[in-house]
Amino acid sequence: MPLITNLSERLKRHPKRVVFPEGADERILQAARMFSTQKLGIPILLGDRAKIKENAAALDINLEHIRIIQPRRSSEYEGFVKKFQGLRRFKGMTEKETEAYLDNNNYFATLMLATAQADAMLSGATVTASSALRPLLQIIQRQEKANSVSSLNIFDLQEPETGKDRVLFLADCAVIPNPDSMQLCDIAVNTAALAYHLTNEKPRVALLSYTSKSLSSKNEGVIKMKAATDLARQKAKELDIPMEIDGELQVDAALDPFVAEAKQLQGSVPGKANVLIFPDLHAANIASKMVDVLTRARTYGPILTGLTRPAAEISRGATANDIFGTAVMIASQAIDHRLLYPTEGDTLNEDVTVL
Ligand code: ACO
Repeated sequence: MPLITNLSERLKRHPKRVVFPEGADERILQAARMFSTQKLGIPILLGDRAKIKENAAALDINLEHIRIIQPRRSSEYEGFVKKFQGLRRFKGMTEKETEAYLDNNNYFATLMLATAQADAMLSGATVTASSALRPLLQIIQRQEKANSVSSLNIFDLQEPETGKDRVLFLADCAVIPNPDSMQLCDIAVNTAALAYHLTNEKPRVALLSYTSKSLSSKNEGVIKMKAATDLARQKAKELDIPMEIDGELQVDAALDPFVAEAKQLQGSVPGKANVLIFPDLHAANIASKMVDVLTRARTYGPILTGLTRPAAEISRGATANDIFGTAVMIASQAIDHRLLYPTEGDTLNEDVTVL
């Protein structure tokens, strides 16, 4: 059964509120309608109320059970101005400067997420990755023991021979341009932890390179992946999260049992990996978009890891179906919120003095 079907069934029993800062976008409206119609929770659309209604009418989209918030007119606005000014990073900011930030719906949505007025947030449909990511990095607290925020893409592929679904998790496709071995360790462990949460299966994590267990390579990149593999094994053990980790591996040796055998690679990861960790953002982003364009896989993400609240920063090329599926993934993360994100109450980053 596709991953999304499983998760949707669970969400129906535990519906969640997902905030979309780009509420007037056509694809967002379509995705929100699907989310609401399937009774998975309440979509919250931010934006100009009249514009959202006009766009919905043009698409013949019924807005019943979809919440619309026009930030300036919201009863929360004043409170958010104060909360924002209470953050150490923005301290000393004038009312006008603060309002300029909050007029950017990404900031308003992030405050909703941080103060638990929404369970998950999906942005990036109309803006660059860095503009969508920055409010989240600046406002949402990091998960305990997660030093880096990174992202993953999920591909739900159908095996041509068996017809069975195979779910792959690829990271980091959107956030850290040149991760070092410590950051790769975080990326590997955080991605595997989320994979475990979403599939309930022990993840098999491969740290990728252009060599497989080379004994002779002195290449910096290969050495980095070897070091990241050791660090990730150690961290997974310390955190007691079930996962198998191996590296460095070539991508075919990680995914194809025949290649793994031909290269005499033993263990539970070679040939059977489902979590793929790339050496940098170039490799991950290119591989991810290539799989997306060339296969008919159901694709979700990028979903962020390392933050105390579920959020996704999608590509501007995402379709309404991609957006709907990604919303299901992040809303599902919110179901076991306490397990995944142990921090209680507000998750504003840094000391908030005015609450
Ligand atoms: N993990 C943890 N903290 C981080 C991270 C991270 N990965 N990145 C930045 N931060 C911290 C910063 O250190 C800073 O904290 P500080 O002020 O306390 O020191 C805070 O978050 C805010 O960061 P900024 O300085 O505003 O942002 P920065 O200049 O570091 O840039 C960004 C972060 C925007 C994510 C940058 O790394 C970037 O542009 N990444 C690539 C995005 C991209 O183009 N992706 C590809 C396309 S995505 C797609 O296809 C969907």
